[in-house]
Amino acid sequence: MVRLLSLKKLLLVYFVMSTGALLWLILNFGLFCHASSKEEETLLTKTKELRHWEERLRRRERDLQKKPQEDASLPTIYAIMPTHTRHVQKAELTRLAQTFLHVKNFHWILVEDSDSQTDLVTRFLATCGIKHTHLNIKTPENYQLKETDPNWLKPRGVEQRNAGLQWLRENLDVGRDKGVVYFADDDNTYSLQLFDEMRHTRGVSVWPVGLVGGMRFERPVVEHGKVVRWYTYWRPERPFAIDMAGFAVNLQLILQKPQAKFELRVRRGYLESSLLEHLVTMEELEPLADNCTKVLVWHTRTEKPKMKQENYLIQAGRPSDPRIEV
Ligand code: UGA
Ligand code: MN
Repeated sequence: MVRLLSLKKLLLVYFVMSTGALLWLILNFGLFCHASSKEEETLLTKTKELRHWEERLRRRERDLQKKPQEDASLPTIYAIMPTHTRHVQKAELTRLAQTFLHVKNFHWILVEDSDSQTDLVTRFLATCGIKHTHLNIKTPENYQLKETDPNWLKPRGVEQRNAGLQWLRENLDVGRDKGVVYFADDDNTYSLQLFDEMRHTRGVSVWPVGLVGGMRFERPVVEHGKVVRWYTYWRPERPFAIDMAGFAVNLQLILQKPQAKFELRVRRGYLESSLLEHLVTMEELEPLADNCTKVLVWHTRTEKPKMKQENYLIQAGRPSDPRIEV
């Protein structure tokens, strides 16, 4: 009787335990299956999301490579820029390229002051992502600035800008090409807004320039929508007492007046006038930048880096690795 009871109990315990185990198994297995499919689902959604962003990134990358963006309805800005070899040259070009990349329909005409095109500039232009033309012409010996000369002694970038003008005249067509010509220094600072302002220049447009002529700014003075005189300390009686960075010229005008160029043999401060006198009168100037009250370009000048230690090493016969381009 006792054995029978314990057998019954044993059976009951066995039954309860196996049912419990089965239940536990079903429950867990079910849950496990459930969790795995849920996880799978999340994984799938995440992968889809990732693909979507990857595609967007790839498209954005392609767009960036296409820069500067082209818009056939807009006139092109032809920026003629002289440049010369020195320690800061690549830094200047990098800084400027990263501004110009944001400008639509921008054509950079870079003119080296050298007998041949340097490897540094050639390599730089190849990957800068900006539409460009690479030219070179060396300033005649007697017009070159010496190390010790003050920078105002002789005009700079004259032959280079004239070479840029010549390229425009030889390669563009009055009827076909719409644009505006701007003369840039490789050490100035340009606001993007400046290019929006100048793009629709009909003849010659003008605006203020910051940090120039020993003043916070120089500017054309505008009365009733017309330029009437020049706000500058030094020789305001000059025909166009304006810095190179302060005006732009319609391309048609440049093409129609082939005799207009910069004069190498010019009195100090008359370089800009030597070109503009061929193109426009003061009354015809188009004042921009809120009637010439906003500064959108700065005549910044980069400090010449000191090379004392570098020179010690050169003298000691241990110059820095020339294969590292700076
Ligand atoms: C200022 C104006 O900003 C210049 O546009 C103008 O040409 C000059 O005065 C002048 O009156 O001749 P500044 O800033 O003092 O110029 O001169 P830089 O910036 O040293 O030179 C102007 C441009 O010419 C630069 O793009 C520079 O790279 C280039 N340059 C300079 C040469 O091509 N060769 C040189 O030997 C020196
Ligand atoms: Mn300059």
